[in-house]
Amino acid sequence: MNPVRKHNGVKMKFSNGVKPFLIQNKSLPDGKVILPGDKSIAHRALILSALTRGKTILKNFPVHDDSLATLNALSALGVKIIRQGNKVSVLGKGRQGFKKPGKPIFVGNSGTTLRLLLGVLAAENFQTKIIAGNYLSLRPMSRVNIPLRLMGARISAKTRGKEEYAPLIIKGGQLKGIVYRPPVASAQVKSAILLAGLFARGKTQVIERLSTRDHTERMLKVFGADIIVNKNKITLKPAKALITPGEIYIPGDISSAAFFIVLASIIPGSKVIIEQVSLNPGRSGIIKILRRMKANIKVTPKKNKSQGFEPSGNVVICGSQLKAAIITPSEIPSLIDELPILMVAACFAQGITIIKGANELRVKETDRINSMVGNLKRMGANISVSKVGSQEIITIKGTGGLRGASLKSFGDHRTAMSMIVAALAAEGKSRIDDVSCINKSFPGFLATLATLLKR
Ligand code: S3P
Repeated sequence: MNPVRKHNGVKMKFSNGVKPFLIQNKSLPDGKVILPGDKSIAHRALILSALTRGKTILKNFPVHDDSLATLNALSALGVKIIRQGNKVSVLGKGRQGFKKPGKPIFVGNSGTTLRLLLGVLAAENFQTKIIAGNYLSLRPMSRVNIPLRLMGARISAKTRGKEEYAPLIIKGGQLKGIVYRPPVASAQVKSAILLAGLFARGKTQVIERLSTRDHTERMLKVFGADIIVNKNKITLKPAKALITPGEIYIPGDISSAAFFIVLASIIPGSKVIIEQVSLNPGRSGIIKILRRMKANIKVTPKKNKSQGFEPSGNVVICGSQLKAAIITPSEIPSLIDELPILMVAACFAQGITIIKGANELRVKETDRINSMVGNLKRMGANISVSKVGSQEIITIKGTGGLRGASLKSFGDHRTAMSMIVAALAAEGKSRIDDVSCINKSFPGFLATLATLLKR
Protein backbone atom coordinates (compact mmCIF):
# COMPACT_ATOMS: atom_id res chain seq x y z
CA MET A 1 0.00 0.00 0.00
CA ASN A 2 1.20 3.50 -0.78
CA PRO A 3 -0.76 5.98 1.30
CA VAL A 4 -0.33 9.56 0.15
CA ARG A 5 -0.37 12.21 2.84
CA LYS A 6 -1.07 15.62 1.44
CA HIS A 7 -0.50 18.89 3.26
CA ASN A 8 -1.71 21.51 0.83
CA GLY A 9 0.97 21.12 -1.76
CA VAL A 10 3.44 18.97 0.16
CA LYS A 11 2.76 15.41 -0.76
CA MET A 12 4.68 12.72 1.01
CA LYS A 13 4.07 9.28 -0.32
CA PHE A 14 5.07 6.34 1.82
CA SER A 15 5.51 2.69 1.06
CA ASN A 16 5.64 0.54 4.20
CA GLY A 17 5.72 3.79 6.16
CA VAL A 18 9.41 4.39 5.57
CA LYS A 19 9.99 5.40 1.97
CA PRO A 20 8.70 8.85 1.19
CA PHE A 21 8.43 10.17 -2.28
CA LEU A 22 8.60 13.90 -1.95
CA ILE A 23 6.83 16.07 -4.46
CA GLN A 24 7.51 19.72 -4.92
CA ASN A 25 6.36 21.87 -2.08
CA LYS A 26 4.05 24.78 -2.79
CA SER A 27 3.57 25.80 0.86
CA LEU A 28 5.52 28.42 2.71
CA PRO A 29 7.10 27.21 5.95
CA ASP A 30 5.08 28.97 8.62
CA GLY A 31 4.48 28.19 12.28
CA LYS A 32 5.90 27.61 15.74
CA VAL A 33 7.60 24.51 17.13
CA ILE A 34 9.14 23.32 20.39
CA LEU A 35 11.58 20.53 19.71
CA PRO A 36 12.55 17.46 21.74
CA GLY A 37 15.55 17.92 24.04
CA ASP A 38 19.11 18.15 22.83
CA LYS A 39 20.65 14.74 22.10
CA SER A 40 24.15 15.59 23.35
CA ILE A 41 22.82 17.03 26.61
CA ALA A 42 20.49 14.06 27.09
CA HIS A 43 23.35 11.52 26.94
CA ARG A 44 25.31 13.46 29.55
CA ALA A 45 22.29 14.02 31.79
CA LEU A 46 21.58 10.27 31.82
CA ILE A 47 25.17 9.29 32.52
CA LEU A 48 25.83 11.77 35.32
CA SER A 49 22.43 11.04 36.90
CA ALA A 50 23.40 7.37 36.91
CA LEU A 51 26.72 8.16 38.59
CA THR A 52 25.18 10.12 41.45
CA ARG A 53 23.21 8.71 44.38
CA GLY A 54 19.55 9.64 44.46
CA LYS A 55 16.88 10.51 41.97
CA THR A 56 17.24 12.88 39.01
CA ILE A 57 14.29 13.78 36.80
CA LEU A 58 15.03 14.70 33.20
CA LYS A 59 12.37 16.76 31.45
CA ASN A 60 11.93 17.23 27.69
CA PHE A 61 14.00 14.08 27.22
CA PRO A 62 14.28 13.27 23.49
CA VAL A 63 13.08 9.78 22.65
CA HIS A 64 15.07 8.40 19.73
CA ASP A 65 17.39 5.52 18.91
CA ASP A 66 20.52 7.24 20.22
CA SER A 67 19.18 8.49 23.56
CA LEU A 68 17.56 5.10 24.16
CA ALA A 69 20.90 3.42 23.45
CA THR A 70 22.43 5.26 26.42
CA LEU A 71 19.34 4.66 28.57
CA ASN A 72 19.38 0.93 27.80
CA ALA A 73 23.14 0.63 28.32
CA LEU A 74 22.85 2.19 31.79
CA SER A 75 19.89 -0.09 32.60
CA ALA A 76 22.03 -3.07 31.57
CA LEU A 77 24.61 -1.83 34.10
CA GLY A 78 22.03 -2.03 36.88
CA VAL A 79 20.77 1.57 36.98
CA LYS A 80 17.04 1.89 37.54
CA ILE A 81 15.55 4.23 34.96
CA ILE A 82 11.84 4.89 34.51
CA ARG A 83 10.63 6.66 31.37
CA GLN A 84 7.15 8.09 30.97
CA GLY A 85 7.01 9.78 27.57
CA ASN A 86 9.60 12.56 27.61
CA LYS A 87 10.07 12.48 31.38
CA VAL A 88 12.81 10.20 32.68
CA SER A 89 13.61 9.38 36.31
CA VAL A 90 17.07 8.02 37.01
CA LEU A 91 17.81 6.37 40.34
CA GLY A 92 21.57 6.79 40.52
CA LYS A 93 23.94 4.11 41.74
CA GLY A 94 26.67 6.36 43.07
CA ARG A 95 30.34 6.19 42.34
CA GLN A 96 31.37 2.89 40.78
CA GLY A 97 28.02 1.35 41.67
CA PHE A 98 27.33 -0.33 38.36
CA LYS A 99 26.97 -4.10 38.12
CA LYS A 100 28.65 -6.27 35.51
CA PRO A 101 26.11 -6.79 32.73
CA GLY A 102 24.94 -10.34 32.08
CA LYS A 103 25.58 -10.04 28.34
CA PRO A 104 27.34 -7.70 25.90
CA ILE A 105 25.93 -4.20 25.73
CA PHE A 106 24.57 -3.20 22.33
CA VAL A 107 24.80 0.55 21.67
CA GLY A 108 23.21 0.61 18.22
CA ASN A 109 24.73 3.33 16.05
CA SER A 110 25.16 5.89 18.79
CA GLY A 111 28.78 7.06 18.77
CA THR A 112 28.24 9.29 21.79
CA THR A 113 26.84 6.37 23.82
CA LEU A 114 29.80 4.18 22.93
CA ARG A 115 32.58 6.69 23.51
CA LEU A 116 31.18 8.20 26.70
CA LEU A 117 30.32 4.77 28.10
CA LEU A 118 33.93 3.68 27.61
CA GLY A 119 34.97 6.62 29.80
CA VAL A 120 32.62 5.48 32.56
CA LEU A 121 33.49 1.77 32.26
CA ALA A 122 37.20 2.58 32.39
CA ALA A 123 36.75 3.06 36.14
CA GLU A 124 34.63 -0.06 36.75
CA ASN A 125 36.41 -3.11 38.03
CA PHE A 126 34.78 -5.60 35.67
CA GLN A 127 34.94 -6.58 32.04
CA THR A 128 32.29 -5.47 29.55
CA LYS A 129 31.90 -6.27 25.88
CA ILE A 130 30.29 -3.56 23.77
CA ILE A 131 28.79 -4.27 20.37
CA ALA A 132 27.75 -1.60 17.88
CA GLY A 133 25.43 -1.42 14.87
CA ASN A 134 26.71 -1.69 11.30
CA TYR A 135 27.40 2.03 10.81
CA LEU A 136 29.09 2.65 14.15
CA SER A 137 31.21 -0.48 13.74
CA LEU A 138 32.94 1.32 10.85
CA ARG A 139 33.79 4.44 12.88
CA PRO A 140 37.25 4.98 14.42
CA MET A 141 37.71 4.18 18.10
CA SER A 142 41.49 4.60 18.67
CA ARG A 143 40.90 8.27 19.43
CA VAL A 144 39.21 7.28 22.68
CA ASN A 145 40.96 3.97 23.41
CA ILE A 146 44.43 5.58 23.39
CA PRO A 147 43.85 8.12 26.20
CA LEU A 148 41.77 5.67 28.27
CA ARG A 149 44.62 3.13 28.09
CA LEU A 150 47.03 5.85 29.20
CA MET A 151 44.77 6.27 32.25
CA GLY A 152 44.99 2.55 33.01
CA ALA A 153 41.99 0.94 31.29
CA ARG A 154 42.46 -2.30 29.41
CA ILE A 155 40.68 -2.22 26.06
CA SER A 156 40.78 -4.65 23.18
CA ALA A 157 39.06 -3.91 19.91
CA LYS A 158 38.72 -5.12 16.38
CA THR A 159 41.60 -3.70 14.36
CA ARG A 160 41.99 -2.91 10.70
CA GLY A 161 45.30 -1.35 9.69
CA LYS A 162 46.25 1.10 12.42
CA GLU A 163 42.65 1.88 13.43
CA GLU A 164 40.42 0.22 16.04
CA TYR A 165 36.69 -0.43 15.79
CA ALA A 166 33.81 -1.93 17.74
CA PRO A 167 33.17 -4.54 19.06
CA LEU A 168 35.33 -3.70 22.07
CA ILE A 169 36.07 -5.32 25.40
CA ILE A 170 36.93 -3.00 28.28
CA LYS A 171 38.19 -3.92 31.72
CA GLY A 172 38.51 -0.98 34.05
CA GLY A 173 40.01 -0.44 37.44
CA GLN A 174 41.95 2.14 39.39
CA LEU A 175 42.86 4.89 36.92
CA LYS A 176 45.38 7.69 37.05
CA GLY A 177 44.77 11.22 35.79
CA ILE A 178 46.50 12.37 32.62
CA VAL A 179 47.21 15.57 30.75
CA TYR A 180 45.99 14.99 27.21
CA ARG A 181 45.92 16.98 23.99
CA PRO A 182 43.46 15.20 21.67
CA PRO A 183 44.81 15.11 18.11
CA VAL A 184 41.26 15.51 16.72
CA ALA A 185 38.67 18.07 17.83
CA SER A 186 36.13 15.76 19.46
CA ALA A 187 33.74 16.42 22.32
CA GLN A 188 33.18 12.68 22.63
CA VAL A 189 36.88 12.04 23.23
CA LYS A 190 37.15 14.94 25.69
CA SER A 191 34.06 13.70 27.52
CA ALA A 192 35.25 10.09 27.79
CA ILE A 193 38.51 11.31 29.36
CA LEU A 194 36.71 13.61 31.80
CA LEU A 195 34.24 10.90 32.84
CA ALA A 196 37.13 8.51 33.47
CA GLY A 197 38.95 11.32 35.29
CA LEU A 198 36.11 11.57 37.81
CA PHE A 199 37.38 8.35 39.35
CA ALA A 200 41.09 8.60 38.64
CA ARG A 201 43.92 9.26 41.05
CA GLY A 202 45.18 12.83 40.66
CA LYS A 203 43.98 15.50 38.31
CA THR A 204 42.97 15.02 34.71
CA GLN A 205 43.54 17.74 32.17
CA VAL A 206 42.30 17.97 28.56
CA ILE A 207 43.83 20.68 26.41
CA GLU A 208 41.95 21.21 23.16
CA ARG A 209 43.48 22.66 20.01
CA LEU A 210 40.02 23.75 18.87
CA SER A 211 37.20 24.14 21.40
CA THR A 212 34.40 21.60 21.12
CA ARG A 213 30.92 21.55 22.67
CA ASP A 214 31.19 21.90 26.46
CA HIS A 215 28.05 20.05 27.61
CA THR A 216 30.07 17.61 29.73
CA GLU A 217 31.91 20.39 31.52
CA ARG A 218 28.65 22.27 32.23
CA MET A 219 26.88 19.13 33.39
CA LEU A 220 29.79 18.11 35.62
CA LYS A 221 29.56 21.53 37.32
CA VAL A 222 25.82 21.05 37.85
CA PHE A 223 26.55 17.72 39.57
CA GLY A 224 29.13 19.34 41.86
CA ALA A 225 32.34 18.06 40.27
CA ASP A 226 35.59 19.92 40.87
CA ILE A 227 36.19 21.21 37.34
CA ILE A 228 37.87 24.36 36.11
CA VAL A 229 37.62 25.53 32.52
CA ASN A 230 40.21 28.02 31.36
CA LYS A 231 39.72 28.67 27.65
CA ASN A 232 40.81 25.43 25.92
CA LYS A 233 42.18 23.84 29.10
CA ILE A 234 39.87 21.76 31.27
CA THR A 235 41.10 20.58 34.65
CA LEU A 236 39.16 18.03 36.69
CA LYS A 237 39.92 16.71 40.15
CA PRO A 238 38.49 13.34 41.20
CA ALA A 239 35.00 13.47 42.73
CA LYS A 240 34.25 12.10 46.19
CA ALA A 241 30.61 12.01 45.20
CA LEU A 242 28.43 13.70 42.61
CA ILE A 243 25.33 15.51 43.83
CA THR A 244 22.11 15.40 41.86
CA PRO A 245 20.51 18.74 41.01
CA GLY A 246 17.13 16.93 41.35
CA GLU A 247 15.71 18.00 38.02
CA ILE A 248 17.11 18.94 34.62
CA TYR A 249 15.16 20.52 31.76
CA ILE A 250 16.79 19.64 28.44
CA PRO A 251 16.38 22.51 25.94
CA GLY A 252 15.38 21.74 22.34
CA ASP A 253 17.99 20.27 20.03
CA ILE A 254 19.72 22.94 17.93
CA SER A 255 20.91 20.22 15.53
CA SER A 256 17.27 19.27 14.82
CA ALA A 257 16.25 22.94 14.70
CA ALA A 258 18.90 23.55 12.03
CA PHE A 259 16.79 21.80 9.37
CA PHE A 260 13.86 24.15 9.95
CA ILE A 261 16.16 27.18 10.31
CA VAL A 262 17.64 26.51 6.88
CA LEU A 263 14.30 25.58 5.29
CA ALA A 264 12.81 28.91 6.41
CA SER A 265 15.97 30.83 5.46
CA ILE A 266 16.03 29.64 1.85
CA ILE A 267 12.32 29.98 1.02
CA PRO A 268 11.35 33.66 0.68
CA GLY A 269 8.16 34.50 2.57
CA SER A 270 8.70 31.82 5.27
CA LYS A 271 8.38 32.53 8.97
CA VAL A 272 9.26 29.88 11.52
CA ILE A 273 9.53 30.29 15.30
CA ILE A 274 11.49 27.74 17.34
CA GLU A 275 11.03 28.02 21.09
CA GLN A 276 13.25 26.90 23.98
CA VAL A 277 16.07 25.68 21.79
CA SER A 278 19.61 25.11 23.05
CA LEU A 279 21.88 28.07 22.27
CA ASN A 280 25.14 26.72 23.63
CA PRO A 281 27.87 28.73 21.84
CA GLY A 282 29.72 25.49 21.12
CA ARG A 283 26.69 24.31 19.13
CA SER A 284 25.11 27.38 17.59
CA GLY A 285 27.66 27.94 14.82
CA ILE A 286 24.87 27.32 12.31
CA ILE A 287 23.07 30.49 13.44
CA LYS A 288 26.31 32.50 13.43
CA ILE A 289 27.21 31.38 9.91
CA LEU A 290 23.70 31.79 8.48
CA ARG A 291 23.65 35.33 9.85
CA ARG A 292 27.00 35.92 8.14
CA MET A 293 25.17 34.69 5.02
CA LYS A 294 22.57 37.45 5.61
CA ALA A 295 19.85 35.13 6.87
CA ASN A 296 17.06 36.87 8.74
CA ILE A 297 17.32 35.20 12.17
CA LYS A 298 16.28 36.81 15.44
CA VAL A 299 17.43 35.20 18.67
CA THR A 300 15.89 35.95 22.06
CA PRO A 301 17.89 34.30 24.85
CA LYS A 302 15.85 32.97 27.77
CA LYS A 303 16.25 35.35 30.72
CA ASN A 304 15.09 33.04 33.49
CA LYS A 305 18.31 31.26 34.39
CA SER A 306 16.77 28.60 36.66
CA GLN A 307 18.08 25.93 34.28
CA GLY A 308 20.79 28.30 33.16
CA PHE A 309 23.64 25.81 33.02
CA GLU A 310 22.79 25.47 29.32
CA PRO A 311 21.78 28.66 27.48
CA SER A 312 18.56 28.47 25.51
CA GLY A 313 16.06 30.79 23.88
CA ASN A 314 13.66 31.43 21.03
CA VAL A 315 14.67 31.79 17.40
CA VAL A 316 12.59 33.45 14.68
CA ILE A 317 13.59 32.84 11.06
CA CYS A 318 12.20 34.66 8.02
CA GLY A 319 13.09 33.79 4.44
CA SER A 320 15.69 35.99 2.71
CA GLN A 321 18.24 35.96 -0.10
CA LEU A 322 21.36 34.35 1.31
CA LYS A 323 24.88 35.41 0.40
CA ALA A 324 27.94 33.14 0.33
CA ALA A 325 30.34 32.91 3.27
CA ILE A 326 33.70 31.45 4.23
CA ILE A 327 33.76 29.00 7.12
CA THR A 328 37.14 28.58 8.81
CA PRO A 329 38.53 25.40 10.46
CA SER A 330 38.16 26.78 13.99
CA GLU A 331 34.43 27.29 13.38
CA ILE A 332 33.84 23.69 12.28
CA PRO A 333 33.35 22.07 15.73
CA SER A 334 30.48 24.46 16.56
CA LEU A 335 28.52 23.27 13.53
CA ILE A 336 30.01 19.89 12.70
CA ASP A 337 26.61 18.13 12.62
CA GLU A 338 25.02 21.04 10.73
CA LEU A 339 27.50 21.07 7.83
CA PRO A 340 25.22 18.88 5.66
CA ILE A 341 22.30 21.30 5.97
CA LEU A 342 24.65 24.28 5.62
CA MET A 343 25.76 22.83 2.26
CA VAL A 344 22.11 22.92 1.21
CA ALA A 345 21.83 26.58 2.31
CA ALA A 346 24.98 27.44 0.33
CA CYS A 347 23.37 26.09 -2.87
CA PHE A 348 20.68 28.77 -2.51
CA ALA A 349 23.11 31.60 -1.68
CA GLN A 350 24.58 34.13 -4.10
CA GLY A 351 28.32 33.63 -4.53
CA ILE A 352 30.88 31.01 -3.58
CA THR A 353 30.76 29.45 -0.13
CA ILE A 354 33.94 27.78 1.10
CA ILE A 355 33.97 25.35 4.03
CA LYS A 356 37.53 24.76 5.24
CA GLY A 357 38.69 21.86 7.41
CA ALA A 358 35.59 19.67 7.21
CA ASN A 359 37.65 16.44 7.53
CA GLU A 360 35.69 14.98 10.46
CA LEU A 361 32.64 14.72 8.19
CA ARG A 362 34.33 11.69 6.63
CA VAL A 363 33.93 9.67 9.87
CA LYS A 364 30.38 10.47 10.91
CA GLU A 365 27.44 8.03 10.51
CA THR A 366 28.58 7.90 6.90
CA ASP A 367 31.14 9.84 4.92
CA ARG A 368 28.98 12.97 4.82
CA ILE A 369 31.19 14.74 2.27
CA ASN A 370 30.55 11.88 -0.10
CA SER A 371 26.81 11.54 0.69
CA MET A 372 26.02 15.25 0.49
CA VAL A 373 28.18 16.11 -2.52
CA GLY A 374 26.73 13.18 -4.50
CA ASN A 375 23.14 14.06 -3.65
CA LEU A 376 23.51 17.80 -4.23
CA LYS A 377 25.23 17.23 -7.59
CA ARG A 378 22.23 15.14 -8.64
CA MET A 379 20.08 18.18 -7.86
CA GLY A 380 22.21 20.40 -10.10
CA ALA A 381 24.48 21.92 -7.44
CA ASN A 382 27.86 23.33 -8.35
CA ILE A 383 29.86 21.71 -5.54
CA SER A 384 33.38 20.35 -5.38
CA VAL A 385 35.83 18.99 -2.84
CA SER A 386 39.57 19.60 -2.77
CA LYS A 387 42.42 19.11 -0.36
CA VAL A 388 44.98 21.71 0.70
CA GLY A 389 47.62 19.97 2.81
CA SER A 390 45.62 17.71 5.08
CA GLN A 391 42.57 19.97 5.01
CA GLU A 392 39.38 19.05 3.17
CA ILE A 393 37.79 22.06 1.48
CA ILE A 394 34.22 22.08 0.19
CA THR A 395 33.42 24.76 -2.40
CA ILE A 396 29.82 25.53 -3.35
CA LYS A 397 28.89 28.01 -6.04
CA GLY A 398 25.34 29.09 -5.30
CA THR A 399 23.08 28.44 -8.25
CA GLY A 400 20.09 30.16 -6.64
CA GLY A 401 18.19 26.89 -6.43
CA LEU A 402 18.18 23.15 -6.97
CA ARG A 403 16.09 20.79 -9.08
CA GLY A 404 14.29 17.65 -7.96
CA ALA A 405 16.20 14.38 -8.25
CA SER A 406 16.42 10.82 -7.03
CA LEU A 407 18.28 10.96 -3.71
CA LYS A 408 19.91 8.57 -1.24
CA SER A 409 20.03 8.83 2.54
CA PHE A 410 22.94 6.35 2.85
CA GLY A 411 21.23 5.31 6.09
CA ASP A 412 22.39 8.61 7.63
CA HIS A 413 19.79 10.65 9.53
CA ARG A 414 21.35 14.05 8.89
CA THR A 415 21.88 13.36 5.19
CA ALA A 416 18.24 12.24 4.94
CA MET A 417 16.84 15.34 6.69
CA SER A 418 19.15 17.70 4.78
CA MET A 419 18.06 16.23 1.46
CA ILE A 420 14.38 16.40 2.38
CA VAL A 421 14.84 20.13 3.09
CA ALA A 422 16.70 20.53 -0.21
CA ALA A 423 13.90 18.67 -2.01
CA LEU A 424 11.22 20.85 -0.45
CA ALA A 425 12.98 24.03 -1.59
CA ALA A 426 13.84 22.67 -5.06
CA GLU A 427 11.95 22.94 -8.34
CA GLY A 428 10.26 19.70 -9.31
CA LYS A 429 9.91 16.31 -7.71
CA SER A 430 12.43 14.41 -5.65
CA ARG A 431 12.55 10.87 -4.41
CA ILE A 432 14.60 9.67 -1.45
CA ASP A 433 15.31 6.00 -0.98
CA ASP A 434 14.94 5.45 2.77
CA VAL A 435 14.28 7.74 5.69
CA SER A 436 13.87 5.25 8.54
CA CYS A 437 17.37 6.35 9.67
CA ILE A 438 15.82 9.65 10.83
CA ASN A 439 14.70 7.75 13.95
CA LYS A 440 18.30 7.93 15.12
CA SER A 441 17.85 11.53 16.28
CA PHE A 442 14.43 12.89 15.33
CA PRO A 443 11.54 10.45 14.81
CA GLY A 444 9.07 13.37 14.73
CA PHE A 445 10.87 15.19 11.90
CA LEU A 446 8.33 14.55 9.11
CA ALA A 447 5.37 15.25 11.40
CA THR A 448 6.92 18.53 12.61
CA LEU A 449 7.68 19.49 9.02
CA ALA A 450 4.07 18.83 8.09
CA THR A 451 2.83 21.24 10.80
CA LEU A 452 5.04 23.98 9.33
CA LEU A 453 3.85 23.31 5.78
CA LYS A 454 0.14 22.89 6.46
CA ARG A 455 -1.18 26.12 4.97
C1 S3P B 1 28.88 14.78 19.97
C2 S3P B 1 30.07 15.23 19.45
C3 S3P B 1 30.34 15.29 18.01
C4 S3P B 1 29.06 15.23 17.20
C5 S3P B 1 28.15 14.15 17.68
C6 S3P B 1 27.76 14.37 19.12
C7 S3P B 1 28.72 14.75 21.44
O1 S3P B 1 31.14 14.18 17.66
O2 S3P B 1 29.37 15.06 15.84
O3 S3P B 1 26.98 14.11 16.88
O4 S3P B 1 27.57 14.65 21.91
O5 S3P B 1 29.74 14.84 22.13
P1 S3P B 1 32.75 14.21 17.81
O6 S3P B 1 33.08 14.20 19.22
O7 S3P B 1 33.20 12.97 17.10
O8 S3P B 1 33.18 15.46 17.11
